[in-house]
Amino acid sequence: MAQFKPLVFSGVQPTGNLHLGNYLGAIVKFVELQKTHECIYCVVDMHAITVQQDPEQLRSSIREVTAAFIACGIDPKTHIVFNQSQVAEHAELAWVFNCVARMGWLNRMTQFKEKAGKDRENVSVGLFAYPALMAADILVYRATHVPVGEDQKQHLELSRDIAQKFNNDFAASIEKYGHGDAFFPLPEPLIQGPATRVMSLRDGTKKMSKSDPSDNSRLNLTDSADTIAQKVRKAKTDPEALPSEIAGLAGRPEVDNLTGIYAALVDRSKEDVLREFGGGNFSTFKNALVDLAVAKLGPIGDEMKKIASDNAYLDSVLVDGGNRARAIAAPNMKAVKDILGFIS
Ligand code: TYM
Repeated sequence: MAQFKPLVFSGVQPTGNLHLGNYLGAIVKFVELQKTHECIYCVVDMHAITVQQDPEQLRSSIREVTAAFIACGIDPKTHIVFNQSQVAEHAELAWVFNCVARMGWLNRMTQFKEKAGKDRENVSVGLFAYPALMAADILVYRATHVPVGEDQKQHLELSRDIAQKFNNDFAASIEKYGHGDAFFPLPEPLIQGPATRVMSLRDGTKKMSKSDPSDNSRLNLTDSADTIAQKVRKAKTDPEALPSEIAGLAGRPEVDNLTGIYAALVDRSKEDVLREFGGGNFSTFKNALVDLAVAKLGPIGDEMKKIASDNAYLDSVLVDGGNRARAIAAPNMKAVKDILGFIS
């Protein structure tokens, strides 16, 4: 495989409140990767409209995710932060990928099956084609590394399949672009640590999600200290004590989840956390978790609220990021058109 310059890309949808799952599964990694890589972080507004959105609500959610990125420690000057719809090349490459990806590949996507449910005939075509747009988001920059939570793994595998098929199908006209026979890298998912799949606080078998009707199922980045304390104290557990070893978490999804959350927030392993709290009762552990969650999320929520009131600043970050993103995407898209045989 040809060598590509390391470049990180990831995206977050502007739909509803950002929660602890988004933070631990993705945004914490975004922040960390800034130290070692060039990074592009995108508010994926075009993905959001695969289901119906209220325009005013969407506008404010785009700004809210931007504020969250910055409040969590993403530096939009050194790296790139922007909203997807500003860079038309995402949509342009997505069309090409709609013609590369096979129906059978998309038919296997479990997230589509879950989201469409029994109402398949009535969901948008965009919801079905969504993973091809996601592949375009990454590959329009020829990004090499993609930090995401576990739920995006299958979409990342599809992105690799699309990149590989494009490289194979057009190998002959790709050669002159200088990476041997590969125009696109096969992007590598970065799914690591103890909280790649944060579960609902009310049901350890369900993913923590923006769309869960119960707000008690998740910790939002903007929750107050009191709300965090209440939600953690109400979090479902079971009657047994906390185990001292990982093996003791088997068949206890809620306990496993709270242990993973604690470990990720304090940046230690689950083993380590169980060594400290194992054998003790839940109220001691939950009190420690409340203190930790408030210490970590409190300042982020405060900072978000501060920045969120400054629309002019947030919009200027997005426009500046959009311009810099386009400068990378445009020559790549021009090359793709040439490879395909388009005249431009
Ligand atoms: P989205 O907006 O649903 O979620 C944003 C990020 O948060 C992660 N995440 C979680 N991680 C752990 N536990 C959870 N309960 C949890 N819930 C969400 C997601 O895995 C994701 O990393 N399709 C993507 C957005 C996207 C994208 C991209 C990502 C569009 N284009 C290109 C990477 C590269 C999505 O809907 O994420």
